[in-house]
Amino acid sequence: MSSEETRGRLTTRTIAMPADTNPSGDIFGGWVLSQMDMAAGICAGQRAQSRVVTVALDSMSFIRPVKVGDILGVYTDITSVGRTSMNVHVEAWARRGRIGTREKVTEATFKFVAIDDNGNPIAVPDKEDLPAYALEGYSI
Ligand SMILES: CC(C)(COP(=O)(O)OP(=O)(O)OC[C@H]1O[C@@H](n2cnc3c(N)ncnc32)[C@H](O)[C@@H]1OP(=O)(O)O)[C@@H](O)C(=O)NCCC(=O)NCCS
Repeated sequence: MSSEETRGRLTTRTIAMPADTNPSGDIFGGWVLSQMDMAAGICAGQRAQSRVVTVALDSMSFIRPVKVGDILGVYTDITSVGRTSMNVHVEAWARRGRIGTREKVTEATFKFVAIDDNGNPIAVPDKEDLPAYALEGYSI
């Protein structure tokens, strides 16, 4: 078991299914990346209180494999906010076979931009202007 601690808030949890595997039966890296992008988008959207788009992603390495039946938990943490952009540190952890030990499988920093209905960048609001739920947790 990893002694490492998770960083950020648990934002999504899902189970790795047979449909997410490559022909060898291992979970696609792209599926994990997609789960991380979605979780980071939830995080950035709550911080921005608007639509957001992924604009960049730093380098990413897969530390451990994900297997069918693992629960993938994605943790997010906003590390910096620019005028219209936000950097979100994202960690993906696998709970082995639903009830086993957990391990960090990968991490990366995603950059999102807040946009309006026309897809143009808009300013991220100050923290003081956010509703309480956006700061306290990710209840829907
Ligand atoms: C995100 C997008 C709206 C930004 O438009 P733009 O004309 O570059 O806007 P700006 O130059 O004003 O930049 C906006 C912010 O994004 C940042 N940014 C833009 N391009 C970037 C890049 N390639 N890497 C890192 N940051 C970038 C800027 O630094 C700026 O941040 P700040 O306001 O916090 O200082 C536009 O690039 C876009 O729509 N991209 C496609 C996004 C998308 O579809 N993602 C999903 C892919 S499937």
